[in-house]
Amino acid sequence: MSKAPNNNWWRGGVIYQIYPRSFADSNGDGVGDLPGITQRLDYVAQLGADAVWLSPIFKSPMKDFGYDVSDYCDVDPLFGTLDDFRALVNKAHDLGLRVMIDQVLSHTSDQHPWFAESRSSRSNPKADWYVWADAKDDGNPPNNWLSIFGGSAWQWDTRRRQYYLHNFLSSQPDLNYHNPEVVEAILGTVKFWLELGVDGYRLDTANYYFHDKELRSNPGRGQPKGNDPAVNDVNPYGWQHHKFDKTQPENIGFLKQLRALLDQYPNTTMVGEIGDDDGLSVMAEYTSGTDKLHMAYSFDLLGPDSSSTYLHDLMTRFAEKNATGWPSWALSNHDVVRVGSRWGGETPDVRKLRVAAAFQMCLRGSPCLYQGDELGLPEAQVAFEDLQDPYGITMWPEFKGRDGCRTPMPWDGQAADMGFGSGTQKPWLPLTEAYRTLAVSEQDKDPQSLLNFYRSLLAWRKGQEVLLHGDQALLPVHQQVMAFVREHEGKKVLCAFNFSESAATLDLPAPFKSASMLPIPGLGGGSVSGENIHLETYGALLLAL
Ligand code: BGC
Ligand code: MG
Repeated sequence: MSKAPNNNWWRGGVIYQIYPRSFADSNGDGVGDLPGITQRLDYVAQLGADAVWLSPIFKSPMKDFGYDVSDYCDVDPLFGTLDDFRALVNKAHDLGLRVMIDQVLSHTSDQHPWFAESRSSRSNPKADWYVWADAKDDGNPPNNWLSIFGGSAWQWDTRRRQYYLHNFLSSQPDLNYHNPEVVEAILGTVKFWLELGVDGYRLDTANYYFHDKELRSNPGRGQPKGNDPAVNDVNPYGWQHHKFDKTQPENIGFLKQLRALLDQYPNTTMVGEIGDDDGLSVMAEYTSGTDKLHMAYSFDLLGPDSSSTYLHDLMTRFAEKNATGWPSWALSNHDVVRVGSRWGGETPDVRKLRVAAAFQMCLRGSPCLYQGDELGLPEAQVAFEDLQDPYGITMWPEFKGRDGCRTPMPWDGQAADMGFGSGTQKPWLPLTEAYRTLAVSEQDKDPQSLLNFYRSLLAWRKGQEVLLHGDQALLPVHQQVMAFVREHEGKKVLCAFNFSESAATLDLPAPFKSASMLPIPGLGGGSVSGENIHLETYGALLLAL
């Protein structure tokens, strides 16, 4: 079959992630919804994004807030209807925005009819649609696999007197992709949304589809000793090498089937979320050639470290492994502490947030921007009594879960509900008072605000072909400055960002002596003198050849 055209809009396009529960609430029930998003799409278009990624909107008992799907082909009534979704897509397309949806294909909800049937007996037609296994002689689960959200990855079910696999909550049973009927059913659901006009997918846990058929135990990596940043000491999931429970060779075959399906629909794309011990290698493998993922989403800028040495090391490793694959870099999402606090500290220095944003927008790849980061929102402090995230409730207090990045978006600093729309209804997570002065209404008024900086940064970037499409080569590692050269069709742009709290100097590479300054609107602090580049605290400099 011949491929439908793909205009590659996604290469270098900015993806704006919307967490629907917390974006805008049109019916005042305390939970954001699709009509709410539609009403606010102008804002996203004005920001300069190319696409929106909607976290899951499908029918769900909401045990993991939509990442537990009970019907892949319908919208949850909490969010609206399929018609509301059609209206959202139409409005987005009118505004020139693409719509990407979040497909949670590795597991379903335990409320999905497929699971209800599968668990009913060992002999029903869907008996093998999930990963079922007998207990060992001593009653224990078949192996040592762990759930990310705590405890064994195996849940006992009395109906079948067997265990089933779940990588997340026990109410998120893992589909058995070794069964071709499952693959076919899933591809059918993907096609459903393509027919409805979506432009692409964010694939949840894209390396988790297959498990080792022989159910071999993962090798342990040992309890963390001291401060090994590579091992999460709070969650024993991190104490194993995940050799057998994910990233299996068969996964590639499924990605190829997905790609073949998308290739029939013009200008569609997929970005796969890759969480693995060696995520960079998996990203490379899954985006090599043109027959698997279009883009892979990295976790590597979602950690605490924003030092230039860390960033340099990361980009060096990325480049070594990944010559051609196309990455998507995010500084925040709905699963991690907001970058405002993670990189910005207790009282985020807006200069640091500016330089981080400019860095993200100059990297080779498609930047993913999480709702509210354009406002510089810090992580919200959510009290234990208000927690919703089961992951946080289990791991409290050393890990507080993900509610702190999921509180309602502040639209209007003057309104009691900050314009989220809940009126008198209590929002599903509390409003964050600290967001009032950072609300869209307040930043709109201030030409120097972070929001207006983002707007001009994204508008400016649209005209920078080298930044959108160029290759990337690193300058030597520097204790304060992250610097690289982008190159496209003979044009070069040197990009240097001072991530430190003091002024910095670095050698000017000889070819750039004749270069001219390429100002990033609203971000200065860089100059050239003789053989050197000087950067003020959190300053940036671009030089074009
Ligand atoms: C999503 C999480 C979700 C998990 C299970 C992830 O990686 O981003 O929010 O809890 O997958 O679906
Ligand atoms: Mg609502």
